[in-house]
Amino acid sequence: MSAASPLPVLVVSCSLNASSRSHRLACAARTALRALDVDAELIDLREWELPFCDGGGSYEHPSVAPLAGRIERAAAVLVAAPVYNYDLNAAAKNLVELTGSAWSEKPVGFLCTAGARSSYMSPIGLANSLMFDFRSLIIPRFVYAVKDDFEADGEPAEPLRARVEQLARTAVALARALARLQASNGTESEAKTGPD
Ligand SMILES: Cc1cc2nc3c(=O)[nH]c(=O)nc-3n(C[C@H](O)[C@H](O)[C@H](O)COP(=O)(O)O)c2cc1C
Repeated sequence: MSAASPLPVLVVSCSLNASSRSHRLACAARTALRALDVDAELIDLREWELPFCDGGGSYEHPSVAPLAGRIERAAAVLVAAPVYNYDLNAAAKNLVELTGSAWSEKPVGFLCTAGARSSYMSPIGLANSLMFDFRSLIIPRFVYAVKDDFEADGEPAEPLRARVEQLARTAVALARALARLQASNGTESEAKTGPD
């Protein structure tokens, strides 16, 4: 990817709930990215049949390679997910388990919805695992929202919408900076498949 080419940025919507609020955040993030002239794609996990990762045959499932390919090609990934049990939901973690090194050394940001504001630290587990396993560059300021942050029609209200736009701008700025760095080094980044 050259610094001048349109940046592919991926938004992954991880809630499997039919009336998901984090999916609304994912859609708002895609809109914000497109407003920045970015090639933004949204993957909605509700539309993908995926096995639980078993560390073996599950990697051969026909959904895994296309998903891993989209993550790999992305210059940055925004993960939209619900908070379940003070963590991101299992579907988000399962996607990371299935696609592993596709996340290597790229900016990753989070958009989370929760029942209460007190679960604010919940994305830290997945963020840490992405950092340690794949050297993902975690965007430290993430979006966290509860029901009151949405309009009655389910759309994100202000200032939530502004926070989504800020995350989109940060992801694009980081992805562009990384692309420039790689171009000036004349190398692609070292992809790692697991911890040293
Ligand atoms: C199994 C389960 C566990 C949950 N655990 C938490 C939690 O630990 N903290 C919290 O604030 N909300 C929790 N919630 C509430 C969800 O985070 C909230 O409903 C959120 O809007 C779901 O996101 P979604 O609408 O995108 O599916 C939980 C919900 C479920 C179904």
